[in-house]
Amino acid sequence: MPKRIYIFDTSLRDGEQSPGVNLNVKEKLEIGRQLERLGVDVIEAGFPIASQGDFEGVKAIAETLTEPIITALARAVKGDIDRAWEAIKGARKPRIHTFIATSPIHMQYKLKKSPEEVLNQSISMVKYARHLCPDVEFSPEDATRTEREFLYRVIEGVIDAGATVVNIPDTVGYMMPDEFGSLIADIRNNVPNIDKATISVHCHNDLGLAVANSLAAIKNGASQVECTVNGIGERAGNAALEEIVMAIKTRSDYLDYTTNINTEAIYRTSMLVSRLTGMHLQPNKAIVGSNAFAHESGIHQHGVLSHRKTYEIMTPESIGLKQSQMVLGKHSGRHAFEERLRELGYTSLDKKEIDEAFTKFKVLADKKKHVLDRDIEAIINQKAIEVPQVYELIYFHISSGNTLISTSTVKLKCEKGELEEAACGSGPIDATFKAISRATELDIKLEDYSLRAITSGADALGESTVRIRENGEIFTGRGVSTDIVEASAKAYVNAINKMLYELG
Ligand code: KIV
Ligand code: ZN
Repeated sequence: MPKRIYIFDTSLRDGEQSPGVNLNVKEKLEIGRQLERLGVDVIEAGFPIASQGDFEGVKAIAETLTEPIITALARAVKGDIDRAWEAIKGARKPRIHTFIATSPIHMQYKLKKSPEEVLNQSISMVKYARHLCPDVEFSPEDATRTEREFLYRVIEGVIDAGATVVNIPDTVGYMMPDEFGSLIADIRNNVPNIDKATISVHCHNDLGLAVANSLAAIKNGASQVECTVNGIGERAGNAALEEIVMAIKTRSDYLDYTTNINTEAIYRTSMLVSRLTGMHLQPNKAIVGSNAFAHESGIHQHGVLSHRKTYEIMTPESIGLKQSQMVLGKHSGRHAFEERLRELGYTSLDKKEIDEAFTKFKVLADKKKHVLDRDIEAIINQKAIEVPQVYELIYFHISSGNTLISTSTVKLKCEKGELEEAACGSGPIDATFKAISRATELDIKLEDYSLRAITSGADALGESTVRIRENGEIFTGRGVSTDIVEASAKAYVNAINKMLYELG
């Protein structure tokens, strides 16, 4: 009987700490719902003391989702623990996750505390958390650079104090797989009460070893792994959920473990997280990159056509990537469109949502000969997380060329009526952004801009992601169109609307 491994997803906490990522409450809830469909065991929904937005995001998830354990992070201090508890206490299965650094370098320079002080604080704060919540996880931050004997004492102390889970973080992604595996084995052999708690691991990817380290830990007795969708997270990120899960599934001959993950929901979860965080995937990203199942060379194509397993160790279908034989175009009717939506897994749309999507599909099919699955996903996802449209793009006109100064005229609609403005810029997109800023009378600080084709071919849908900064916070907007200036203008207006919605 394979041993069950618990998947702890921290996309909404450690993942959201990725530079430039800022999810609002609706977006967090949307990701939370999808993680529940994916079948994760634990969702770390945020760090409530960090901001009001974080607190509300955690609370909304705690009060909405019913299946997974909902946890929130807290430093090992009363104020943080109280705030975390306040956010998660409405959950069906709440867990407080508290941490303090235990490595010499962190204790001396960051905490300015002696090891004895850190040990006492760990124990007293776990006890404090346990009097609020029956499930308490403790993390000795930077465990992999902590002196062994001290690490064992801290773990023993917090388990005696009531910790139900002890998490061993490789905070700076420093370990080698066999070394990390041995650390977990040593903890099991040297902490007398270790069997009273679940051993968890939390690996960062600074040396590209987060997944390998997590698997080595599992082989040595860890039963919970902390990971993020697409491996997002601080610096080089965290262990990628989809890689750990598919490694366990694909190599079940070697790894005698099982998870609760519905692997067919992996692809959609990955797309959702990528879209809402604005963190695009490299094409060769394992499992979910656009090339992960593409066979380019003639030899490989020939092999796959003769027998898929020649070059495919897992199927695209196993992660929910369906390859349709049916091509939709402008002659396709509503029935075929609905059928395709169903095959793609969009089974919870109501009639109004399908009507809206079908109208958009028809507009797109007039511009594009073949409407592919990714186009349909883009249509559906376009509206997923809407904020009130303070401004709406009515039209834009551009005049541009390699011998001209680009100019753009835009018309926006808002509560006050219609606003029209024009501006020059160093290209049509720059001119359009400037005209929009003028029309809204906002001093927008553009932080980042990107444009990519969602599908292939000259008539592909373009997706633009715009990040703007206000009050030290980042707001990410997204726009999709077959016209790249329109996609960019929509993304810019979407980012402005999100900023106004969030900042009130
Ligand atoms: O990387 C880390 O050490 C963490 C802890 C708070 C678990 O994220
Ligand atoms: Zn971390």
